[in-house]
Amino acid sequence: MQISPSARLTGSDFPMIEIDHAVCRARVALHGAQVLEWAPADEAEVLYVSPDAIFREGKAIRGGIPICWPWFGAHPSEENAPFHGIARTRPWRLLSAEEDAAGVTLRFEMAEKIWSAEVIIKAGAELEVRLVSKNTNDFPILISGALHIYFGISDIGEVRIAGLEGVDFIDTLGKSGESRQRGAVEFHEEVDSIYESSSSCLLVDDLSGRTILVEKSGSPSTVVWNPWVAKGKAMADLPDEGYRKFCCIEPAIANDRAVIVMPGERHVLSARISVEE
Ligand code: BG6
Repeated sequence: MQISPSARLTGSDFPMIEIDHAVCRARVALHGAQVLEWAPADEAEVLYVSPDAIFREGKAIRGGIPICWPWFGAHPSEENAPFHGIARTRPWRLLSAEEDAAGVTLRFEMAEKIWSAEVIIKAGAELEVRLVSKNTNDFPILISGALHIYFGISDIGEVRIAGLEGVDFIDTLGKSGESRQRGAVEFHEEVDSIYESSSSCLLVDDLSGRTILVEKSGSPSTVVWNPWVAKGKAMADLPDEGYRKFCCIEPAIANDRAVIVMPGERHVLSARISVEE
């Protein structure tokens, strides 16, 4: 079904929006309001989706831009609550699909119990994702979360992240023995670190000759993650060598940085991705 001149809704069991616009192409699942593919016209795909990803309600899709919300990681108090929240395992409601010469804008919403959010995805020559947490209750709520971006790369040994130099970080694996980043971030083993950075960073892929700029707002942290060999192998939805083909850079509200949203107020966490010359 055509929902705007450049966007089509496909698949009845697992609906997706396919965008084929003069300035970009993209694919977005209603499940999780999750961008799965995006590339500016004449560029190779920017995001990674595991070839073994599982597309089923109640499961998170391994790749693209899962939305972790309304909490990041383990729930602060409920042991059985799903890791990374409820947003990435459910269908969202598509509110609108509009377009102009700059690209296609999709708006989604979800509401469950005390939680209510909108996601606005602008797919154009750049990709922008805005996660709007809304407090429709008459009491304050605490939210955390992340835009868990899986970037497709030439090889994990060939990429580095610039822009986090000198930034304090928490190595959640407790391996590095460091708490301040020296030089660019490189991947030689499993990485799962929370950087105290609200600024942009660059993903430099020397082998493919491509640099990607990640700009963000509304998130005090940037999480960098790659599962490496053992954890990658243990994931049913990732091929054994899959870890070599992506790294995650996640604009995040993590750890003890949860945001209080007052009744009637909203918090916006956004990311903009662009391919640099
Ligand atoms: C990252 C976390 O954000 O997501 C990691 O920092 C976690 O600890 C990773 O392993 C993937 O999580 P999941 O639930 O998608 O396998």
